[in-house]
Amino acid sequence: METKFRDATADAIKTDLLVLPLQEKNLETVAIRSLDRRLRGKLSERIKKSKFTAAEGSTLVYDTAGTLPASHLLLAGLGKANDVDSDIWRKTAGRAWREASIIGAEEIAFYFAPEKDPENAAGSVVEGALLGSYRFNKYRSNTQSPATVKSLTLFRPGLKRSPGLERSVHTAEQIVPGVFLARDLVNEPPSVTTARFLGEQTKIHCSGQGLSVEVWGKKKIEAMQLAGLLAVNRGSLEEPRFIKIHYQPAGKIRKKVALIGKGITFDSGGLSLKSAKSMETMKLDMAGGAAVIGTMSRLSRLGPNIEVTGYIPATDNLPGGNAQKPGDVIRYLNGKTIEVLNTDAEGRLILADALALAAKEKPDCMINLATLTGACMVALGSGVAGIFSNNQTLADSVMRCARGAGEKLWQLPLVKEYREALKSSVADMKNVAGPHGGAITAALILQEFVDEIPWAHLDIAGPAFAEADNPICGKGGTGFGVRTLLRFLLTI
Ligand code: BES
Ligand code: ZN
Ligand code: ZN
Repeated sequence: METKFRDATADAIKTDLLVLPLQEKNLETVAIRSLDRRLRGKLSERIKKSKFTAAEGSTLVYDTAGTLPASHLLLAGLGKANDVDSDIWRKTAGRAWREASIIGAEEIAFYFAPEKDPENAAGSVVEGALLGSYRFNKYRSNTQSPATVKSLTLFRPGLKRSPGLERSVHTAEQIVPGVFLARDLVNEPPSVTTARFLGEQTKIHCSGQGLSVEVWGKKKIEAMQLAGLLAVNRGSLEEPRFIKIHYQPAGKIRKKVALIGKGITFDSGGLSLKSAKSMETMKLDMAGGAAVIGTMSRLSRLGPNIEVTGYIPATDNLPGGNAQKPGDVIRYLNGKTIEVLNTDAEGRLILADALALAAKEKPDCMINLATLTGACMVALGSGVAGIFSNNQTLADSVMRCARGAGEKLWQLPLVKEYREALKSSVADMKNVAGPHGGAITAALILQEFVDEIPWAHLDIAGPAFAEADNPICGKGGTGFGVRTLLRFLLTI
């Protein structure tokens, strides 16, 4: 999809779908009035009949039947927010793209008159339209590919293109393919996305200037003593992989960042087997790893002056004959030991290896993404990820980037008193505590492996996967985290 800017009026622009974003109860805009005049009052009549009020998310389509240069109008409600934020622009553009694909429009013209921060708004509109265009139809036999939108024109009388606008649009265009890669990896069936497949895909997608990939097989994982990954892998016939992606910027390095992603390609729970219902979506359990791969894959194009290493321990979690058993003890690289009382609390077991390995490189900060606990979903619902951190400056900066990206994060506390509940009768700690505060106790276990390096842990169990339809990602893998991480790497 090509993005253009034009200085034009709504009644003169020729397009397949003319999008008019409107604020609630403020429908008498200059553009609407001029269109209504050209349509001899039919538009206002239609608005009245339909009871369209421009509530956030509402839409009204009007077929101009050849009476205007635009063949269809889409009135898109922005709601009553005083300042329309980037998230509203993103969703409005996502809805516009959907409407365009329903009517077979190849060109969209978007009336672009944000009250503030036009650069940010332009990037959000383009990002939203592109994000809304995502489809995963590979396994459907009955889809004809719909006409795809070829161009998106942002216009209004007097609109001028500027380097700032173009930069923001370019950044959005470069970020989105990373989100799509993460979504694709999550949406593939779990018998396709094996650890080996994840390694192969990483090699394919993380190539280009400054990027290099190492994929460690079982022997190397044994030699590196990644005991958690080996323990979780024991119940599986698939070999594990440890994926390491490195980005070396061309210029002077300002910071060194480590990104760690949980790569459980399917979580059956292991011997602590999940119920049939809880297992249905468990192909999503590599969404953290997918977000790291998606993020890394864009770095050669976006070129931040940050050295970034991505670490993804990958395996499925199955109850085979040689599976780890409740009561087994894992001894880690840094000497710490964990008694495994529940094999379904496996994410922390493999992340511990990756965090300990990453910490040895002494990065300026480490961020890990993991679909770690159902408890986090109980606390925050499916739309919000939890963030835990040992460093408030880092947490604030990740949360600022998430806000800009329209990805919801809510900080939860690392309550040190809860460590008591993790005491084991045989090892340094158990892998599960009592029935309450499960997201926090999981985070406390991870913290044992970060060696005091500024660290943030994002529990993305909820927002990694959309079970209900959503204007910018549909159902399924959302690619949550990629947009936040890329903004973080581009702005710190
Ligand atoms: N992968 C799950 C967490 C999860 C649950 C992600 C729902 C997405 C949706 C994780 O490995 C897990 O099973 N955690 C257990 C931990 C428990 C055994 C302490 C959980 O949350 O129930
Ligand atoms: Zn589990
Ligand atoms: Zn899991």
